[in-house]
Amino acid sequence: MKKLSIAIIGYGKMGKEIEKFAINKGHTIACTIDSDTDWNEKRDLLKKADIAIEFSIPQVAVENIKKCFDLNLAIVTGTTGWHNHLAEISNICKEKNQTIFYASNYSIGVNILFEMNKKLASIMKNFDDYNPEIKEIHHIHKLDAPSGTAISLANGIIENNPKYKSWKLAEEISTNEEISINALREGNIFGIHEVTYFSEIDFLKISHSANSRIGFVKGALMAAEWVYDKKGIYTMQDLLNF
Ligand SMILES: NC(=O)c1ccc[n+]([C@@H]2O[C@H](COP(=O)([O-])OP(=O)(O)OC[C@H]3O[C@@H](n4cnc5c(N)ncnc54)[C@H](O)[C@@H]3O)[C@@H](O)[C@H]2O)c1
Repeated sequence: MKKLSIAIIGYGKMGKEIEKFAINKGHTIACTIDSDTDWNEKRDLLKKADIAIEFSIPQVAVENIKKCFDLNLAIVTGTTGWHNHLAEISNICKEKNQTIFYASNYSIGVNILFEMNKKLASIMKNFDDYNPEIKEIHHIHKLDAPSGTAISLANGIIENNPKYKSWKLAEEISTNEEISINALREGNIFGIHEVTYFSEIDFLKISHSANSRIGFVKGALMAAEWVYDKKGIYTMQDLLNF
């Protein structure tokens, strides 16, 4: 495996864990970028990196991705809360022949849950007595709600059950064509996601609970090692090929 020179963009909880894990695997850190000032001062270091791994904040993610494209730097991004700009970013990526790998959740376990969720949704479309609800719980510092992972789960149901057209936060639900997402913020929870189908006589549930951030870190690094020499737009589905 090629040892990569990695630019870490967003040097918060995830960025710091990625730095530790990458160094343990023999990669080097070209630079860390945690502010607009860093972007201005560390441009030359960025240009020398093989790939950027970006975990920042929703408000700057789109700009960060565009800056990487302009530097001809492949980017693996895990920031959530910007995927409504996905069409725009995909167009720019194709136009400029750049590379982006994005995922609302890099944990292998959650990606297995995504597959189970789609399969379950296609089974449940034949059983009208059951209604799905999604619940996600995260630490109190998480900025976006619902989580990108909960939105991916909702989209997995919408794609496989024509009864559902969209999702809404639980408190805003207005029609039975919407999937309810209950987003809770508690303590230091790394991420719990549940999809439950309720009927009058029983319920059935699939869920994932992260014990630490390491699952996200491992998945993001796996993505970087896999994508650094490719061109185009990739997700965990391409990497894991279930
Ligand atoms: N996809 C996944 O698997 C996954 C897993 C965990 C977290 N996340 C997401 O990753 C993001 C980061 O999470 P975190 O827990 O590390 O957050 P965090 O708040 O600890 O870190 C975010 C960092 O971004 C920095 N930042 C602000 N402006 C910046 C800029 N212009 N350029 C570069 N950096 C800038 C902040 O200073 C901060 O250090 C969030 O959106 C979170 O939801 C995704």
